[in-house]
Amino acid sequence: MNLALNFASLLLCIAMLDGIVALIPIVGEYYPSEQEALFRLRDSIGSPNLYSNWTGPPCMNNQTRWGGIACSEGHVVHVVLDGLRLAGSLPPLLLNNLTLLTKLSMRSNSIVGPLPELTDLIHLEHIFLSRNVFTGSIPFHYIRLPNLKKIELQENYLQGEIPPFDQQSLVTFNVSYNSLQGPIPQTDVLQGFPESCFEHNSGLCGRPIKKQCPAPAPVPPAPSPSPTHGGKRSFRARDLAFIIAASVLVPFLVILVFLWYYRRLHGKEETAMNAGLHKLSSQRAADPEKAAELEFFDKNIPAFDLDDLLRASAEVLGKGRISTTYKASLEAGVVVAVKRVKDMNGLSNKEFVQQMQLLGKLKHENLVQIISFYNSKDEKLIIYEFLHCANLFELLHENRGSGRIPLNWVTRLSIIKDVAMAMNYLHQHLPNHKVPHANLKSSNVLLHRQGQNHRTKVTDYGYHPLLSSRRSSEKLAISRSPEFCQGKKLTNKADVYCFGIILLEIITGRIPGDEGGEEREAGELSEWVRDVVNNDWSTDILDVEILGTREAHDDMLKLTNLALECTAAAPEERPKMSEVLRRIEEIEQRKSDND
Ligand SMILES: *[C@@H]1O[C@H](CO)[C@@H](O)[C@H](O)[C@H]1NC(C)=O
Ligand SMILES: *[C@@H]1O[C@H](CO)[C@@H](O)[C@H](O)[C@H]1NC(C)=O
Repeated sequence: MNLALNFASLLLCIAMLDGIVALIPIVGEYYPSEQEALFRLRDSIGSPNLYSNWTGPPCMNNQTRWGGIACSEGHVVHVVLDGLRLAGSLPPLLLNNLTLLTKLSMRSNSIVGPLPELTDLIHLEHIFLSRNVFTGSIPFHYIRLPNLKKIELQENYLQGEIPPFDQQSLVTFNVSYNSLQGPIPQTDVLQGFPESCFEHNSGLCGRPIKKQCPAPAPVPPAPSPSPTHGGKRSFRARDLAFIIAASVLVPFLVILVFLWYYRRLHGKEETAMNAGLHKLSSQRAADPEKAAELEFFDKNIPAFDLDDLLRASAEVLGKGRISTTYKASLEAGVVVAVKRVKDMNGLSNKEFVQQMQLLGKLKHENLVQIISFYNSKDEKLIIYEFLHCANLFELLHENRGSGRIPLNWVTRLSIIKDVAMAMNYLHQHLPNHKVPHANLKSSNVLLHRQGQNHRTKVTDYGYHPLLSSRRSSEKLAISRSPEFCQGKKLTNKADVYCFGIILLEIITGRIPGDEGGEEREAGELSEWVRDVVNNDWSTDILDVEILGTREAHDDMLKLTNLALECTAAAPEERPKMSEVLRRIEEIEQRKSDND
């Protein structure tokens, strides 16, 4: 056994004969392999937030000086590191050295990468890894941890299917708020947990969440009662098959990618937009009477028809969670942005057309103008003015490092004022909308240069009434707001919350969670700012690119306070959009008075 002595007992024993020492059980023993594992843990995810007292031996008998550790008979039995802003990924197999571990808890950190391998930890009872950034699938061997009582994996980014957990000891199980898929295994244990343990995994189905699996539901592989060699061999065979398949597929994919790139370079790409629309044109040819046409709002805009759009060369500008946007260059020289929206096919023709007509009437210099739309049963297009632009997300967060053009304070202030103006306009002109914008985030704030200046325009507004189910609304930025997460009533204050998050991004230069992925970290950004500000206002939170503008620190503080009010957990405590605009204008006014 891997037994060693702590320093004190070593001194005590040094007078003794070396050979005997190892055989006598001595007070203060510890296990270097455990210490080694914890040091590596500290170095890979901890620094600099892990406890400074992680030095020396982790355990002295049943005692420890180490924060977050509990010991029993010289062994580490608990590792509890909740909410320490740990980041980085867990080295694979690392924890297997903690052979007597019963509790592993790292809730509410920012740990990335796959879940840890815990193959040999047969004493493990509690696994609490919720609220992190874990990806990949739930390791299959977790179902063979014989003493598992509680496992909490909710609020991560896990994918794949749920393994068939069937330990009778299991009393708590939560995998909600991930991206898991497939049927919930039909083991007695799993079927016994309530809906809230599985919810918010759009791909899951099964009885606990009252969502039928597409028949015939594949029967999950039964857990083999004890891991036999046979079991292992079949895994190997599967791995092998995978490797063979991959070695065949990879060159094939490389060729595909090359072809795609080649075609892209050489323009005239047949895009999904054209392809999808060709189907329409043939429908139209069959029945010209019935087919919908493009509808225009502004008669001054040079009109074009669906055929023109079909012939246009199209290029993908971006893929979002609810739509794909194309740049379409029509033969007449007109360029437009076409959004092909998903998830709206449950709508009636009337609902869609009414909403589009409402949105088409909106005109504001800080809103991207909708010029037309097209609606048929399986294809919905919204046509916007095209802007040569970058979005705020790219300008704030991309190309950090050398070669980047910094975004100065004055520009940031003017951008945020423009966004506030657009939002205030929406809130006044869509009074019957629960949440007028509903999808405000930095990637929907477009900036195009006009000489020295930026013009700011907000896009993707007014989609909330078009997305009937909660599941599709989850793809909107308002799903970041606390009231949405708690399933409470939504008001226009959800927009104010999203606005507050953009303010925080502008001030701190930090990303409030992963674009395209879940956005729950948005809340963490405001919590973090709140923490820093409560512990004495400090310039620590400011983006380095504006830190140098010392004379504006006061204004930055004012804006930070406004951002914190906007992101208050209770919607009624957030200011109205008109109030937000007024306060930003005040700050801007002061600035120009000082200039
Ligand atoms: C170790 O440090 C943490 C925080 O720094 C503290 O909470 C804990 O009490 C410390 N442990 C001991 C035994 O001093
Ligand atoms: C599972 O986790 C989610 C998200 O944290 C929570 O809302 C839900 O109440 C949990 N379910 C149970 C049964 O604890």
